[in-house]
Amino acid sequence: EEQQRNEAFEARIDAGDFIEAKDWMPEHYRKTLVRQISQHAHSEIVGMLPEGNWITRAPTLKRKAILLAKVQDEGGHGLYLYSAAETLGTSRDQMLDALHSGKAKYSSIFNYPTLTWADIGVIGWLVDGAAIMNQVPLCRCSYGPYARAMIRICREESFHQRQGYESLLVMMREGTAAQKAMVQDAVNRWWWPSLMMFGPADKDSPNSEQSMRWGIKRLTNDELRQKFVDATVPQAELLGVTLPDPDLKWNAQREQHDFGAIDWEEFWRVVGGNGPCNTERLGTRVKAWDDGAWVREAALAHARKRATEAQA
Ligand code: ACO
Repeated sequence: EEQQRNEAFEARIDAGDFIEAKDWMPEHYRKTLVRQISQHAHSEIVGMLPEGNWITRAPTLKRKAILLAKVQDEGGHGLYLYSAAETLGTSRDQMLDALHSGKAKYSSIFNYPTLTWADIGVIGWLVDGAAIMNQVPLCRCSYGPYARAMIRICREESFHQRQGYESLLVMMREGTAAQKAMVQDAVNRWWWPSLMMFGPADKDSPNSEQSMRWGIKRLTNDELRQKFVDATVPQAELLGVTLPDPDLKWNAQREQHDFGAIDWEEFWRVVGGNGPCNTERLGTRVKAWDDGAWVREAALAHARKRATEAQA
C-alpha cells in the first residue's frame, strides 16, 4: 500500500500538481520541505538585523522610511514562511528553539557586517537580487503553501532590490569621490558572499538531486548562480562599479559569463557558525526573544481572561 501511495504521489509530481497540506506525502518530502522552509524563515528574521542596524543612521527621512518598510517586510516574510512550515506539522516553538539553540541553519550572507551606509544599498542590489533569482522559481514549488507564500514575497523583494540599486545610482551619479569609493568598497565586500548565497556547487550539494526530482527546487544552485552573474554584470556597468573578480568575462561560446573560483572554505566556515558575525547575530536574536517574553505572557493572560469572560 505504501508503494502504491508513493507511486500516486510521484505521478502527481510528474503531472505538475500542487501538493497540499492535507495530502499524503512521503516522510522525506515533508522533512526536506520543513528543512528548507524553516531555514528560509530564519534567514528572513536574522536578515532583519544587519539592516536594522542602520535605521537610526539613515541619511534622510526618505531613506529611513524605505529602510523601515523593508526591514518590516522581511519580518513579514519570516512569518508567512513559519506558517507555511507549520502546515507540515512542525510547531513554531520547535523551529524557534532550533534557531535559538544554534542548531538550525540560516543564510550565510547575514553573518557579514554592515560597515557603511553604502552596504545598505548593496544589500538591496546584490543580496536581495540574489534572493529574487533563487526565489522566483520557488513560486512554482510543488508544495502549494510554500509556492503561494513565495509569490507575495517575490513582489516585495523586487521593491527591495530596486530601492537598493536606486540609492547606489544616486551615490554614484551625484555623490562625492568619497561616497563613490564607499560604494565600490561595499561591492568589493559583498560580491563573493552574494555568490555563496546560492549554496555549494551542484556536485557538492547533497539535497539538490532529490529536491529537483520533487519539484521543490526548479533550478540548481549553479544554474541560479550563473543567471545572477549574467544579470548583474550589466547593472554594475550602468552603475559604474567594478565587480572584484579578475576572471569575470563574457564567454561568447557559452553565451554566459565565466567567473573566478569561490572560496568554499570561507562558505563552510560561515555556515558552520564561524563567520564574522554569527555569534553577534544569534546573540541579538536570543536577546530579542527573551526581552519579548513579557509580551507573550501578557497576550496569553489576556486571551485566557477573554475566554473566561466569554464562558461567564
Ligand atoms: N547559507 C547557509 N546554509 C546553506 C547555504 C547558505 N547560503 N546554502 C546551502 N546551505 C546549506 C543547506 O541548507 C544544506 O544544509 P542542510 O542539509 O543541513 O539543511 C547544505 O548547505 C547543503 O546545501 P544543498 O544540498 O545545496 O541544500 P539545498 O538543496 O537546501 O539548497 C538553498 C540550498 C539553495 C539555499 C535552498 O535551500 C533554497 O533555495 N532555500 C530557499 C531560499 C532561502 O532560504 N533563501 C535565504 C536567503 S535569501 C533571504 O532570506 C532574503
